[in-house]
Amino acid sequence: MNNDPLTPYGNKPMVTPIVSAVNYQYTSFEVLRKITDGEIDGYTYHRDDNPTVRTVEKQIAALEGAKDCIICTTGMAACTMTFLTFLKQGDHLLTFHDIYGANYKVSLILEKFGVEVTWLDGWNYSEVKDAIKENTKMIFCETPSNPLIKVIDIEFLREQANRVKALLVIDNTFATPYHQKPFHSGADMVVHSATKALGGHNDLMAGAIACSTKEYYDKLWFTRQAIGTTLDSFSASLLERGLKTFEIRAKKMSENAMEIAHFLKNHPKISNVYYPGLETDRGHEIAVKQMKNGFGGMLAFDVGETQGEAKIFVENLKTIIHAVSLGCTETLVCLPVLTTMLYMPLERRTSFGVKPNTIRLSAGIENTQTLIKDLEQALGRL
Ligand SMILES: Cc1ncc(COP(=O)(O)O)c(C=O)c1O
Repeated sequence: MNNDPLTPYGNKPMVTPIVSAVNYQYTSFEVLRKITDGEIDGYTYHRDDNPTVRTVEKQIAALEGAKDCIICTTGMAACTMTFLTFLKQGDHLLTFHDIYGANYKVSLILEKFGVEVTWLDGWNYSEVKDAIKENTKMIFCETPSNPLIKVIDIEFLREQANRVKALLVIDNTFATPYHQKPFHSGADMVVHSATKALGGHNDLMAGAIACSTKEYYDKLWFTRQAIGTTLDSFSASLLERGLKTFEIRAKKMSENAMEIAHFLKNHPKISNVYYPGLETDRGHEIAVKQMKNGFGGMLAFDVGETQGEAKIFVENLKTIIHAVSLGCTETLVCLPVLTTMLYMPLERRTSFGVKPNTIRLSAGIENTQTLIKDLEQALGRL
């Protein structure tokens, strides 16, 4: 007998219903007890849990091969919840220069609460080895990195974390679970800005933390419930819609990125192309081991000699759009020093390889030749 008042004859809706309720009526004190004791999957108050959100959490957990997943309001909420949950005063966080810029701001808050933070170049493996200390509690890494698309060896980081039983957290936003499964290489948790390729259409913000154990999930749930970073059900529904086409979008994005990287590599106005799919790229060998189905939709390149030239190029693009964000249906470009890295002090923005004329490109799902032609005509203006 189906007791669901919405579908009394058991004809299940094709789309998970958007439950916008803040609170839920208890049918008895016994049911209340079972919910609060975690005996049954029930709902009481939106800040705790929501059925639309919970459905999408399970879908992302399945995509990453995780035990479970916590969804929250933004990618930065996901990163911050992870730091707040697993770090305390006196702990050491080891991280890398080209993780997403807003993490720098969060690191200032963590330092205020007595967390020690070390920033390294992910490709300097000996420096990473030397930086591990007794109080290192977490290694937080983004691979491929932002914005230089450096591929960092997750298995190597796992070995280093094991030396002091530290947690290994990977931001998998750039790679996406279509191309990279960090749990296969030893990650403890996988963070996403679901605003990007998982959502895919520039119309929602969300974050996700996929967890390898129930213990991590429970701890993160506690933090989310305490600080109130629960996603709204409308955004969760949009995210579910995005997930339905995620794999075919990810495939097309990486095919476009590969074609674009080859085109740019041979262009006289381009001095460097950063893309792990190119055999000449320093991260290629690790990428072949660590990534599958291609190398993702993100690449970077240096245009001409000056920022002025990079700006002329961007201003002349017609199909490709000048905007931040990534992983969406449209191809986007931005100058990281003027956008995503603005959060950092000026001297740090260019201290690890990003140049004033470096452009980050997020490949969309448009016709490949249309994109190449657009790049060609804009470069022709230089
Ligand atoms: C790799 C990566 N992680 C995290 C974030 C933060 O995500 P959100 O903008 O959803 O807070 C971003 C945003 O661009 C990102 O690129």
